[in-house]
Amino acid sequence: MWSHNEIRNKFLEFFEKRGHLRLPSASLIPEYDPTLLLTNSGMAPLKPYFLGQKNPPSLRLTDVQKCVRTDDIDEVGDIHHLTFFEMLGNWSIGQIGKPFGKEGRGPYFKKEACEFALELLREFGIDQGKLYFGVFGGDSGMSSVPPDNETRQIWLDLGIRSERILGLPLKDSFWFSGPQGPCGPNTDVLYDLGPEFGCGRADCGPTHDCGRFLEIWNAGVFMTYERKADGSLESLPIKSVDAGAGLERFAMVLQGGKSAYDTDLFKPLISEIESLAKITAERVNERSVRIIADHVRASTFLASDGLVPSNVEAGYVMRRLIRRAIAHGHLLGIEGYFVSELSETVVNEFQEAYPNLAQTHSVIHELLEDEEKKFGDVLKRGMAELDKYLRKNPNKKVGGDFAFRLYDSLGFPVDLTVDLAKAKGFDVDVAAFEENLARQKDRSRDARAATAYDPEKIKTAHTAAHLLNAALKKILGLEVHQMGQKISEKSFRHDFNFSRKLTDVELAKVEELVNRAIAQNLPVECLTTSFEEARSQGAEALFEEKYQSVDRVTLYRIGPEKTTGEYFSKELCGGPHAHYTGELKRFKIVKEEAVSSGVRRIRGEVEG
Ligand code: SER
Repeated sequence: MWSHNEIRNKFLEFFEKRGHLRLPSASLIPEYDPTLLLTNSGMAPLKPYFLGQKNPPSLRLTDVQKCVRTDDIDEVGDIHHLTFFEMLGNWSIGQIGKPFGKEGRGPYFKKEACEFALELLREFGIDQGKLYFGVFGGDSGMSSVPPDNETRQIWLDLGIRSERILGLPLKDSFWFSGPQGPCGPNTDVLYDLGPEFGCGRADCGPTHDCGRFLEIWNAGVFMTYERKADGSLESLPIKSVDAGAGLERFAMVLQGGKSAYDTDLFKPLISEIESLAKITAERVNERSVRIIADHVRASTFLASDGLVPSNVEAGYVMRRLIRRAIAHGHLLGIEGYFVSELSETVVNEFQEAYPNLAQTHSVIHELLEDEEKKFGDVLKRGMAELDKYLRKNPNKKVGGDFAFRLYDSLGFPVDLTVDLAKAKGFDVDVAAFEENLARQKDRSRDARAATAYDPEKIKTAHTAAHLLNAALKKILGLEVHQMGQKISEKSFRHDFNFSRKLTDVELAKVEELVNRAIAQNLPVECLTTSFEEARSQGAEALFEEKYQSVDRVTLYRIGPEKTTGEYFSKELCGGPHAHYTGELKRFKIVKEEAVSSGVRRIRGEVEG
């Protein structure tokens, strides 16, 4: 049986042997993509390569990318939906004038992508007799994009019988990276899990989404278009392949599990939850157990990438995940702070694939426990308000406005309202709750659009963040490290490990040191070097694993200072940065605050 570590390794080695450069997973927090709150697919961090905006380190790439998608968060708890998942990916980035081919390191296209998929499925020992293949079947609203008969013919040439090749509708066979961005028709591999997984209808078939036919591999999005802001499709100058397979689905098939939760990716966590809840076979509440397992996994990975729960944007997504997990723990009768406890199991299970989990595990624990402490109060207050409301409403109905108020003002999850109300024979008007929520989402989307900033203008704030990081180390000690960062046009926030509030004197010294570096108009140098060389020069790196396995890293050095001859700051980073510190004019600390125990945050602003 293939363990999850073996599946990742096999996938990466297969593509490495075929000329692909192995990349480490990018952070779940997109670095320079204001269109995304969280990394939601394997290709998200690679978008500039498909658009021809940036040169890739290799024309063939492979990785296993951590992803979070919360569009279906309310469905989590059934046997399929997950918020955190890993995407096994292989990519070919086209180049004008370079012919496609399967061998070597150059680009490839449809034929080679299909051949690779079939070969690897065979090497995994997957029974070809259970496979179906979807291709883009055309769409009346997209007359400029013809049905993908070319890919149909490729599968036929590879020996797939025609009845196994399905022309699928747009929603299943054309992949968009977002409302704007690269996109194209795709070809899916579907796996027949067997009649016991399906609806049992006599006419049930691979195009029926009852659960029997599982999409295990998007064997290639053929990236040939860019969707513009007005919705129109423009042909891209290069043709690329973006292929992705969900690790959880591969594990389910290769381990013969009944669901993603029935694999070694989840089993240790699930048995831990069951033992905390003292669940016996008779009273097992699988839905709550699964919700806790999924949300703890997602929150642990988000914390390891430096995200902190808050009331806005990605921080709010994280807060919601943690709070739902806590609420469901309450429903199962689990006592004490258990989310932080369970994060240790996630760290143990996944640290081989993601070494930064082990490096950050104490911070993860503290951050989650802190949120558990905060939510303990909310839970008590929410339950008291709900009880009062239920006593006053003999009609056995909970209004959507009230459920939304609990959710919006206290952060009390609606599913907990539903579950608690149901236990007392009440129904919640979830549709009215959803209407309230949709109105709120529109408001926050408008606010986000109004603050979207320009993947160029953030460079001075970015350079200021490096200066601040270096100044903190000089004033507070070398053991102070960056824990997370969010940069916008003229301001940024910088999280770091430190156990207490900074004194006014310390803050003034840090600010002064940064402004002194600005006044010296120090050059900002960008060098490409190896990770080892950068580390031996004492460079800082936030996500070490991201850099450890790549051949070349980008090192930004600020300095040297005239007085000491030493560099003020050395940090690995993707940029962009100012060329000279003098471009910054002046730096100001706006606020210093606690994020959780052991983690502080400085909000800074920069002129210039
Ligand atoms: N980007 C595509 C997907 O997420 C293929 O990797 O399905």
